Amino acid sequence: MEGLHHGELRVLRGPRLARRRLQGREDRQGHPVRGGAAAARGGALSRAGAGGRAVSARLPEFTWDALEKVGALAAGHPDGVINLSIGTPVDPVPEVIQAALAAGADAPGYPLTAGTPRLRRAITDWVARTCRTPDREFGVLPTIGSKELVAWLPTLLGLGPGDVVAVPRICYPTYEDGARLAGAETVRADSLTALGPDNRVRLIWVNSPSNPTGQVLPATHLRKVVDWARERGAVVASDECYLPLGWTAEPVSALAPEVTGGSYAGVLAVHSLSKRSNLAGYRAGFVAGDPALVAELLKVRKHAGMIVPAPVQAAMVAALDDERHAAAQRERYARRREVLREAFAGAGFEIEQSDGGLYLWVTSGEDCWATVEWLARRGILAAPGAFYGPAGERHVRVALTESDEKIAAVPSRLA
Ligand SMILES: Cc1ncc(COP(=O)(O)O)c(C=O)c1O
Repeated sequence: MEGLHHGELRVLRGPRLARRRLQGREDRQGHPVRGGAAAARGGALSRAGAGGRAVSARLPEFTWDALEKVGALAAGHPDGVINLSIGTPVDPVPEVIQAALAAGADAPGYPLTAGTPRLRRAITDWVARTCRTPDREFGVLPTIGSKELVAWLPTLLGLGPGDVVAVPRICYPTYEDGARLAGAETVRADSLTALGPDNRVRLIWVNSPSNPTGQVLPATHLRKVVDWARERGAVVASDECYLPLGWTAEPVSALAPEVTGGSYAGVLAVHSLSKRSNLAGYRAGFVAGDPALVAELLKVRKHAGMIVPAPVQAAMVAALDDERHAAAQRERYARRREVLREAFAGAGFEIEQSDGGLYLWVTSGEDCWATVEWLARRGILAAPGAFYGPAGERHVRVALTESDEKIAAVPSRLA
């Protein structure tokens, strides 16, 4: 474990693994937790395996099921639904990537968990230029999309009961799900002051540009988080899947020198090709950063069979080597964003943050479900902010991911 600082060793050893116990329906403070409902519905399955509880009992109900009723209302619109509730790409996979996937189709042998040398070079080159790293001394590792890494990172780092994962107050729910899978606790905080002196924090998630708010964090903030984490031996995981989509602010990677101070210790940047290259269907992501942490992830993932399929590895090379399709896709989103921004502002909504990423974070000052229903009556489906944390309950998230034709119809529906 050479090269790891003291705190990382503590994380990697997973000292609490041996005495890990599965959490019940209440957290350590006795508060009801999100997993409560799922635990209750577990029935026979809630006692799975050798006397343990079903793992799903630790997780909340799948949030999106709650949208079904209002989705039916939106679908009843005579001109059809305009679905702005999910950030799933709708434009074609660029030809250059499809061709590389097809060319890689004859792949009878097992692929490398670490990625082919060609893919590792493509990731390294892309990170060096996009994240503005001063060197190439960081580690890289392909992942099966980024969601699986987000969900398993606390487990892969050896976190467990007694450990704390810090996540933004309003954020992508999988950060908390990952903590739950590991049996760790979650604390929601946007500032180091809010985090307080809790030295049980082992992992801190930041996400800039943010899903759902579009907030872009300045380098000074990221630097403070990294310094704070290093002092306590915690790891900073920076989810940068929207990094190429800055609009009114320039997103900065946690691997940039003004954040790292020239050392990658304790920092991981999580990236995805889902949005940049319309590859959500391929499941193509990667992690880059602290070489010792990345090497540890590789060791565990080799055992666990977490391998990106060979044809997808070939497709990733084509995607990473080509910036033209990414620029064209970015332009599409910029145009759609302008149409939606004007339409929502014209209809009296406040648009907050939304400086980058794939979403507008809007409010009409009322409960999010009232806004979601108001929109659904006009055939527009948006995501309630409450999905992303209690602090989001007066906002809705509006995705830029519908076809040009559907986006063009939004202004008249809101008029
Ligand atoms: C903030 C954030 N992180 C990670 C992901 C996962 O993306 P993927 O698994 O497609 O790489 C998403 C998907 O929407 C996201 O919004």
